[in-house]
This record gives sequence, structure tokens and C-alpha cells, in this order.
Amino acid sequence: MKKFAVFGNPIAQSLSPTIHEMFAKSCGEDISYEKIEAPLDGFADVINQFFMQPQTIGCNVTVPFKEQAFSMAVHRDEAAAMAKAANTLMHNSAGELCAYNTDGIGLVADLKSTGLELTGIKVLMLGAGGAARGVVHPLLKAGVARLHILNRTLEKAQAIATDANSDKVAAVSPTDLLSHYDVVINSTSASLSGTLPEVPDSILAGCQLAYDMVYAKQTDSTVFMEHAKKLGARQQMDGLGMLVEQAAAAFTIWTGKEPETARVRAFLRSR
Ligand code: ATR
Repeated sequence: MKKFAVFGNPIAQSLSPTIHEMFAKSCGEDISYEKIEAPLDGFADVINQFFMQPQTIGCNVTVPFKEQAFSMAVHRDEAAAMAKAANTLMHNSAGELCAYNTDGIGLVADLKSTGLELTGIKVLMLGAGGAARGVVHPLLKAGVARLHILNRTLEKAQAIATDANSDKVAAVSPTDLLSHYDVVINSTSASLSGTLPEVPDSILAGCQLAYDMVYAKQTDSTVFMEHAKKLGARQQMDGLGMLVEQAAAAFTIWTGKEPETARVRAFLRSR
């Protein structure tokens, strides 16, 4: 049996075991996938112990340990390097810790699942925390023409734009916004407290898709999705699909197999 886990604090709410168990079943893999709450001051020890177990293949890492997971690794993929954070860990054949960030791959896959063509589009990212950082590189790789970052603390958006080192990425203040963006992505944690990030109504009204990285737990939509819908955004989505797709990308890194995601999305949506 191949051993996996997700580490976070808190972790009780995580859907990752359900998702990975469904992937494993459909791919014919025999796995165990636990939720492990790491102590806030003891993440590295817990990870080292986990990887000492002979059946361990890899793990996922979530809030608040993604930056530490990145720091501990010997090798990092491009997305993790840009994000300075990792959500997926694995040992290579030499026993060295490798870090990956599949959040952006998950976002891109979820956006594409709607039939949206990402090449040449203009994207406005709201927020400039770890969630925003994690998706910059994969969005650029997917061919977006512009990625503007709007954040209530402009310096944090500027730091991401500087690290991205691309003329397609810029930190913008409300007065520098373009008149139109195809997609507006909410990466702020505002939805978690039922509030909205500042963005002009006209931007949401004119966009094709308003995407909230947070997923709607009790209801079908988040406050951001409701707001965008009222203003006339053509489509609204939450981050449940991104969650499933980032998990699929991690599963592929660990096993080399590409799980089918549509059934898992539908199952989670029906819960
Ligand atoms: P994460 O790692 O999940 O991205 P984070 O690093 O705490 O979390 O970042 C949260 C982002 O949401 C930040 O950009 C934050 O704005 P600041 O950089 O100004 O702190 C943004 N944010 C959180 N609550 C918000 C709110 N109510 N309105 C607007 N932006 C908010």
C-alpha cells in the first residue's frame, strides 16, 4: 500500500482524502491517505518522520505550512519557485525532498474545463497573498496576454509582479485598471469572512468569468460570485474544481497516472 497524507493546521475540513481515494480507486492504486494536523512549531519534524516510513510516497501541504514545505525542499518546480510555497512533496530516487506547487495547474485546468480559451486573454487578479503568487506562473504559461494584480496593499502586488519578471504582469492601483478584463479572479481571503474585495462594478459587469478561488461550502455560491452575478458577469465559478484539479496534478506527480476528475467534481458538488 502506498502511503500519502495532507498536513495542515487546522486540517479536519480537508476534502483531500476523499478526492485522492476516489482517484486511487479509478486508477487501480492501493493507497492510504491521512489528514495530519502538524503542530504550528513542529512541521519539519512531522514531515521528516512521515518520509522515514517505508511506504510513504508523498504528501500534500496546506495552510499554514506551504512556505515551510518550500523551504525544506532540495529541489523545486518552477511554480513552487515563483510562489515560494509548495503544496506537494515527494522524495526523489536519491531520497531528496522535492517540492511542487500544483495550485496554478489546478486553476488553469479548471478554467479550461469551462471551454475558456486562455491564450491572449486579459486577467485581473484580486489579492496578492500566497494564493495569488501560486497561480502566476501557470497562468503565464497558459498564454494569458495580461495579468494585472489589484490588492488593497499595493506593495504586495508589486512584489509579485517584480518576481514574475514578465512584461505581461503588473501591479495596478484602482486608477490604472484597463476598461475590460475577460476573467476576474478573487484570490483574497475576503469570501471566507463573507466580505468583498474592492473592485469597480463596471469591471465585474463586463467580464466573461468571475472566479472565486475559495469554494462555496454551505451554499452554491460565494458572496463574490453572488455580487458578480448581480452586476451581470456572464459566468461565476468557485474554487472547488481547482481543488480537484490541483489534487489530480499531485496524484500524477506521485504515481505517473492521470486520474479522471469530472466524476470527483460531481460527487463533491452533490455533497
Ligand atoms: P493566502 O495565502 O490564502 O493568499 P494571505 O497571504 O493572507 O492568504 O493573503 C490574503 C490576501 O487577501 C491578501 O492579499 C489580503 O490583502 P492584503 O495584502 O492587503 O492583506 C487579501 N484580503 C484579505 N481580506 C481582504 C478583504 N476583506 N478585502 C480585500 N482584500 C483582502
